[in-house]
Amino acid sequence: MLQPLRRHGSETPHAKARLRLHTGQVEADQAEIAARVQTLLDKIQNRSAVIGIVGLGYVGLPFAVEKAKVGFKVIGIEQNVERADRVNRGENYIPDVGDDEFRELVGKGLIEAATDFSQVGEMDVVVICVPTPLTRNLNPDLQFVEGVTRELSRFLRPGQLISLESTTYPGTTQEVMLPLLEASGLKAERDFFLAHSPERVDPGNARYTTKNTTKIVGGVGPHSHQVAVAFYSQTIEKVVSVSSAEAAEMVKVFENTFRAVNIALVNELAQLCDRMGLNVWEVLDAAYTKPFGIMPFFPGPGVGGHCIPLDPHYLEWKAREFNFSTHFIALAGEINRSMPRFVREKAHRVLNHLGVAPSRSRILMLGVSYKKDLGDYRESPALEVMKLLMEDGAEVLYHDPYVPAFAEHGLAMESAPLTEELLAGINLVVITADHTNVDYGWVASRAPHVLDTRNATKHLRETCDNVTLL
Ligand SMILES: NC(=O)c1ccc[n+]([C@@H]2O[C@H](COP(=O)([O-])OP(=O)(O)OC[C@H]3O[C@@H](n4cnc5c(N)ncnc54)[C@H](O)[C@@H]3O)[C@@H](O)[C@H]2O)c1
Repeated sequence: MLQPLRRHGSETPHAKARLRLHTGQVEADQAEIAARVQTLLDKIQNRSAVIGIVGLGYVGLPFAVEKAKVGFKVIGIEQNVERADRVNRGENYIPDVGDDEFRELVGKGLIEAATDFSQVGEMDVVVICVPTPLTRNLNPDLQFVEGVTRELSRFLRPGQLISLESTTYPGTTQEVMLPLLEASGLKAERDFFLAHSPERVDPGNARYTTKNTTKIVGGVGPHSHQVAVAFYSQTIEKVVSVSSAEAAEMVKVFENTFRAVNIALVNELAQLCDRMGLNVWEVLDAAYTKPFGIMPFFPGPGVGGHCIPLDPHYLEWKAREFNFSTHFIALAGEINRSMPRFVREKAHRVLNHLGVAPSRSRILMLGVSYKKDLGDYRESPALEVMKLLMEDGAEVLYHDPYVPAFAEHGLAMESAPLTEELLAGINLVVITADHTNVDYGWVASRAPHVLDTRNATKHLRETCDNVTLL
């Protein structure tokens, strides 16, 4: 039989006492949490907070410098022993960081590096900047994020903020990191704070750096959000809040998907223009004179680096959980991945015109990094082009002022010095990265023929008739 409902205000004395106790406990907990938040905010604002940065690469090292420059003590955790030693010797290895400035900050004791997590207890804020690659089947590979989070969980203490900056699918911070951190026995929003703030740095971009690129911040709850915004506002000119960690994760994967899709669009146009006998570069340059409604993207031998070829697939994978297909991502990936084969086919056509069998040709690849004026060759499409041409029997050499040697993609090679003798002894130069410190006029005047996949010879059009554009 159903019990009659007890009318409001008619609780037993025991129930009333329990309620008072419970209310008192809640108030005490809230006061404790508020004090914890305030202590961290004070440390952040008076710069006495110790900042931990896990992963001192393209993202982590410039960020460490920004924090140290305003007076924070930064302890980096870097598993690569050689990198950690270099940091402790004050030796910079990231192009976006100034050598002298770095040496000075290390000299003042503001930046140091460790190879393990034993100092995590000393840190007030821990920022994670580790790689987020894909598996061979294009699925997210969170082994670095998970491994680091497990280590942090061992040393986590109340009052710390953990912020993930690695690019990843929406849900990583909340669904993957939070349970691993709470396995420590501490609770998010009560004991520690957790946020996602994606890094948006564009390596090699002198105009937009870590400091003046607007930062997106989303916390797993209001306290996490508040301390994370305060933390990033210390060194970054503009911080934009979003309502959750998932929204912040989605912002970043969308941005990179936007680039991947638009690059794919112009890569497809390049293939069509090739069939139609049109110069895609001329078409695009003219299209981009429109002052509204269009944005410049350029074709090339494919996409490379640690972001554009990988990040959209994180979103594609997550979408499947919602029975949703991200058609643009799949199509963009397909087109961009087809570009090295298109370059190979175009190289064959050029060689045939020159009367040289591709299998007997000698080819110089000029620039193997994935991007102009950088030495980063991760996922570089130039390496794929090289491999394909080698499979066809060509002898392939390379020159890159930023990549003295590389071992990747099953290849291990050294950059050949760019000399007259070298250029006289090859059949074709393929420009795959348009570094500004290469004299393309000089190259074109000495080489038998040039296949330019980047429009690096744009200003030589009048004077050189031995250049074929993508
Ligand atoms: N490079 C970019 O242009 C860029 C831009 C925006 C965002 N991101 C994102 O930032 C993240 C980091 O990228 P990156 O380019 O700086 O990578 P990176 O490879 O240059 O640096 C990552 C560093 O983390 C270290 N590391 C890996 N596992 C570790 C561990 N368990 N403990 C300590 N250190 C560890 C590596 O040794 C390496 O030095 C990625 O998610 C990437 O997608 C990169």
